[in-house]
Amino acid sequence: MTTLNDQERQFLIDLAVEASRRAYAPYSNYPVGAALRTKSGRVFTGCNVENAAYPTGICAERVAIFKAVSEGEREFEAVAVATNNGGTPCGSCRQVMAEFALDMVVLISDGQGHLKQETTVADLLPGAFTPKDLGK
Ligand code: THU
Repeated sequence: MTTLNDQERQFLIDLAVEASRRAYAPYSNYPVGAALRTKSGRVFTGCNVENAAYPTGICAERVAIFKAVSEGEREFEAVAVATNNGGTPCGSCRQVMAEFALDMVVLISDGQGHLKQETTVADLLPGAFTPKDLGK
């Protein structure tokens, strides 16, 4: 569970909204932004990046997580996800989040930075298949 206070949560949400403005989403017109806070206090943002070959695109949450992991971070405290209508993370993103942090807090925001839902990865993906299932 997160130790973030209200101000830190709002900061993360605001970064996610800002990241959503950098989305490359000409096909869906559904911009998504994510801001991921590591346990060490660093923040990595992400936006969805679509492609003319549709399945090649990637979600905002996974961009943020892959950026963080590629920079040596694997322990995550919270992620804020911002969409215009307060949509929730897709199944693939839930799976990627579950790989690293079942107890991570997920802050779901609308495009104005209003918190719509606060939950955890474990709640978003009950019965997740995780490294433990492979004996890791
Ligand atoms: N999208 C995300 O970035 N994150 C999600 O969790 C849900 C979906 C993106 C993918 C695609 O670019 C657009 O939103 C519409 O599906």
